Amino acid sequence: MSKEYTDLVATINQWNVAYHVLDAPMVSDAEYDLAFRRLLALEAENPALITADSPSQRVGAKPIDTFRKIEHQVKMLSLDNAFSLEDTVDFFEKAAKELALNLNELAVYSEPKLDGLAIAIHYHKGILVYAATRGDGQVGEDVTHNIKTIQSVPIKLATDNPPDILDVRGEVFMPKIAFEKLNRLAQQNDAKLFVNPRNAVAGTVRQMNPKIAAERDLQFIPYGLGEYSNEQSFSAHSEVMAYLVSLGFKKNAHCYAFLGSVAAFEKNYTEMVRLRDDLPMEIDGIVYKIDALQQQARLGFTAHHPKWAVARKFPAEQVVTQLLGVDFQVGRTGVLTPVARLVPVFVGGVTVSNATLHNMDEIERLGLHIGESIVIQRAGDVIPKIVKVVASGAEQLPISMPERCPVCDAVVARIEGQVAYSCTNGLLCSAQSAERIRHYASRKFMNIQNLGPKLIEQLYGLGMIKTIADIYTLKVSDIANLEGYGEKSAQNVIDSIVESKTTKLATFLSALGIHGVGEEGAKNIANVYKNIDALFAAIDAIPDAFSDDDLAVFKDNIPNFGLVMSKNVVTFFKDAHNRSIVSAILAAGVVLEHTDTASNQAPILAGQTWVLTGTLQMPRQEAKAILERLGAKVAGSVSKKTHCVLAGENAGSKLADAQALGVAVMDEAAFLTLING
Ligand code: IVH
Repeated sequence: MSKEYTDLVATINQWNVAYHVLDAPMVSDAEYDLAFRRLLALEAENPALITADSPSQRVGAKPIDTFRKIEHQVKMLSLDNAFSLEDTVDFFEKAAKELALNLNELAVYSEPKLDGLAIAIHYHKGILVYAATRGDGQVGEDVTHNIKTIQSVPIKLATDNPPDILDVRGEVFMPKIAFEKLNRLAQQNDAKLFVNPRNAVAGTVRQMNPKIAAERDLQFIPYGLGEYSNEQSFSAHSEVMAYLVSLGFKKNAHCYAFLGSVAAFEKNYTEMVRLRDDLPMEIDGIVYKIDALQQQARLGFTAHHPKWAVARKFPAEQVVTQLLGVDFQVGRTGVLTPVARLVPVFVGGVTVSNATLHNMDEIERLGLHIGESIVIQRAGDVIPKIVKVVASGAEQLPISMPERCPVCDAVVARIEGQVAYSCTNGLLCSAQSAERIRHYASRKFMNIQNLGPKLIEQLYGLGMIKTIADIYTLKVSDIANLEGYGEKSAQNVIDSIVESKTTKLATFLSALGIHGVGEEGAKNIANVYKNIDALFAAIDAIPDAFSDDDLAVFKDNIPNFGLVMSKNVVTFFKDAHNRSIVSAILAAGVVLEHTDTASNQAPILAGQTWVLTGTLQMPRQEAKAILERLGAKVAGSVSKKTHCVLAGENAGSKLADAQALGVAVMDEAAFLTLING
């Protein structure tokens, strides 16, 4: 019986590889099902037989109740982007120069850039032990239960001589056909559609119950290694890839090496663009990697990406559609954001019916009116954006900011010193309250692990939490009766609220979501006042009907604090409602600790000049404060002496200046990695 069992395991595994890895099925579905049922019967009869590599073990895992954290021994980095042939050639010319070589002496390996989710799969002596998401690069989440269901992921490596440790890095993706099937099904069931295959992958890999992943056709293709034990030795990336294929991983098709030259990069790009639509999966560009591992090692990494690889992105697809109208959405801080409603149109792999307009200045800059034909573009996960107006429609209507908040009907006013407008109802506007609660509880702030956005929405909708203070009055019985919850999971929520109660003063201040006060601003306040009572005392010393002059002492007391930020903080804490919420939170046992944070960060940008442009997620004041704390000067215009331009959304002439002068440009994500790393 044991021989029958082991033979059956080997046979089914071989069929699986043939079907899922090699795309060359060996048997009919009926024959496969019969064998699989026999395997399950044998395992049911004698559970002691079950081996780790049995195909039944892929889908058998029980749902998990929380995502365990996993530390990556080798950091999972992202890639630098190139948007043109010139960018690409520049990147490798710089690398060649650093290696004292000519461009045409560099062997470059080209791979399709799969548009999915980065995953690390860890093998110990050839057996899959865990799989983790990238997370922040250093620490990811354990998603083994879902990754094991992917048939193209070997549970056991196909070798008699497995390495002790092998951390395989690659992309989990959903083939185009599987994505279409999934959305067809969602449509039939009146469920929410996924916007693109990548979101579908992310949504699937982060499910607690592996049954869902098992039902969706996810695939995995490796693109490199993290940690591996030193009995393995490779001299080139292409060798690593061949080794991984020999271990039973699926091959990324259309990969090859060539010697660097303008013509070779151009030829490769034209070829890949031509291939793109016919590939079974979405690709959003090409990854070029220097093949020789020694050369890679000599070049090394920046905080954000390797200096030996670059992603040449495909341009965003543009299409023409019509602007039907503009809605105004109210965000967490009360800011009203115009959102364009469009005649639905297929672009960048998805049907788009909305586009963000950022603010009224953007509408003016575009010269936009309702009814007009417009060009929109969308690339990857970027929110669709309106590029320009192409023709005026028959009926043209102007777009204006509403005078009253579309959610709570309070007066809308322009925020001083900014282009944005905001609802004036503070913590009482319901759009703001739900968003504020989400912000407050999120991982980055109070980190209330089991109080996620969905539960908050449910509790908010039922009127069980109206403000952030209400979080602390929740009881197990409030949650246990909700859909999808029971006693145990409700207790987990309450436990995580209790666990979150001790935090840093700075974290708490940024969790409150005071307009314009980000993490850096909050740290600066905390470093000065050290406890919340001292902060309150300082604010209480300012007259209620304060003038700008009354704020001078408060403002000057805090490094890198401007007048607008001071005004926002003082107004926030002078508001009786806000103050009572904070008091209730403290009365509920939230403990705010403090340790100085500013002084222990090295001035890594000393002597550099930076320029800020475009719309950043973090308040501009904050970006400036961070740069200054790290030793940089912040200038208003770009010159040859500028070291780097930090460019947000809709960056204009300063970005163009930087490009013309060959000054480095960094986006906000890279900037965050730099400062946090
Ligand atoms: S190499 C240290 N190769 O693209 C180098 N990445 O935008 C790590 N990706 O995080 C990446 N296909 O998730 C590499 N052939 C490929 C890839 C690839 C897709 C993803 C990967 C990475 C992201 C960067």
